[in-house]
Amino acid sequence: MKLPSMTRRDFVRMGAGAVVAGAAVKSTLLEPAMLSAETLADGRKIRFVMIGTGIRGCDLLRAARSVPSGICVGAADLYKTRHLSAKEAYGADFPTTGDYRTLLDRKDVDAVFVATSDHHHRRVTLDAVAAGKDVYCEKPISHSVADGLAMVDAVQAGKRIFQAGSQRVSSILNRKAGEIYKSGRLGEVHQVDAHINRNSPGGAWTYPIPPDANPETVDWKQFLVDAPDRPFDPKLFFRWRCFADYGSGLGGDLFVHLISGILGITGMNTVATRAYSSGGLYHFKDGRDFPDLLETLYDYPDMQVHLHCNQNNNDGNDTISLYGSKGTLVVAGSTLTFTPQDVAPHFESYGWGGMTAEQKKQGQDEWNAAHPAPVPALDEVETYTLPQGYNDTAEHIANFFRAVVTREHVVEDEVFGNNAAIGCHLANYSYFHRTIATWDPATKTIKG
Ligand SMILES: NC(=O)c1ccc[n+]([C@@H]2O[C@H](COP(=O)([O-])OP(=O)(O)OC[C@H]3O[C@@H](n4cnc5c(N)ncnc54)[C@H](O)[C@@H]3O)[C@@H](O)[C@H]2O)c1
Repeated sequence: MKLPSMTRRDFVRMGAGAVVAGAAVKSTLLEPAMLSAETLADGRKIRFVMIGTGIRGCDLLRAARSVPSGICVGAADLYKTRHLSAKEAYGADFPTTGDYRTLLDRKDVDAVFVATSDHHHRRVTLDAVAAGKDVYCEKPISHSVADGLAMVDAVQAGKRIFQAGSQRVSSILNRKAGEIYKSGRLGEVHQVDAHINRNSPGGAWTYPIPPDANPETVDWKQFLVDAPDRPFDPKLFFRWRCFADYGSGLGGDLFVHLISGILGITGMNTVATRAYSSGGLYHFKDGRDFPDLLETLYDYPDMQVHLHCNQNNNDGNDTISLYGSKGTLVVAGSTLTFTPQDVAPHFESYGWGGMTAEQKKQGQDEWNAAHPAPVPALDEVETYTLPQGYNDTAEHIANFFRAVVTREHVVEDEVFGNNAAIGCHLANYSYFHRTIATWDPATKTIKG
């Protein structure tokens, strides 16, 4: 998460004016946690490999440089030039290959990062678990409900540590939001609204296609694996997010971050009971399968969740808002704002509007007699902001490494990752089948 450049003093000044005119504001700059530095029992670092070294794999490698407990000892990618990108990203040399299975055969490898296109997550994870490795798998962990269930079963049967890659769950901002939520200060929360908007071709996944991409440099057959056979097409390889055989659209790319954030903040680690999507492909009519605007209304037990992502507008960017009976909590970009509501008892004159002045006076007198205590002052608005340069991905990786050493729980295990991914599959099911999608917990399937 990139932060605007801002001094602490700037922030406090801006925070005091930016939230609610006239309300007292308490602004806090959050402190990053120390990144885990545990080593394995024999005193050595965790030795990990990166499978998939494209945009995210390179980001993970850059972030991993600042996590002292692990060291990258190899990488695999189907596009040869990315073997070099991986080394550049990590700033060190290590063996690279086009066939990830050769990395899994290595006895000196403890953990595997899966940063491939979504349709490879299941296969690579299952192979890694079978080879006795712990796994950090990018979001959405699955390309289908069946993939996710198979992954959960395999990880649990193999007693492996599994971290799903929605790094915001580890962010100190989301953890602060969770603290406020769990303290009860929001009161009853039955409504959440969240969105990520991106208004640029890159934000709509029209990523660059390098001039050296050809059947010699790209292992096209391996990329397709179980997907339908097609002649080599670099557009499908580099812009796979747009196509349902390989990616999961706005649901898998962005909803899953929002759902993971909401599940993390509320502790509501479950699947929505039903979902209704609306949207369309309005602008990016380049042959893609997925809409560029998607809006989904979910029913979770006791909570309505409304998600929307628009690739044709930037407004509000990346925001999760929780509306409670005692306050509102908004996590927007690098700042969290808690705004308490005025829920102190007041004489509500509106209802007396159709009465006589005499009746109203009597009502007011009775109310005053029943409420002799002075009305308490409204609590302050609170804002919390991430420190400049804070990297939630490094924190998420550190959390994974700590679990690899201690065998304790990660923040976002296979069940959590699968619950979040099913949210994305529900949204896509509803959109493409033009129906309300219902989750059937008995059969663990989506029904129309
Ligand atoms: N957590 C986040 O914020 C975040 C951000 C971006 C992407 N992602 C996720 O990361 C994953 C990768 O996305 P990306 O943007 O890096 O895509 P990308 O196309 O840039 O890179 C994917 C790479 O995986 C490689 N690959 C695919 N199958 C492989 C296999 N079997 N063996 C070796 N390499 C293989 C491809 O060759 C490609 O280079 C996706 O699941 C995506 O949703 C997460």
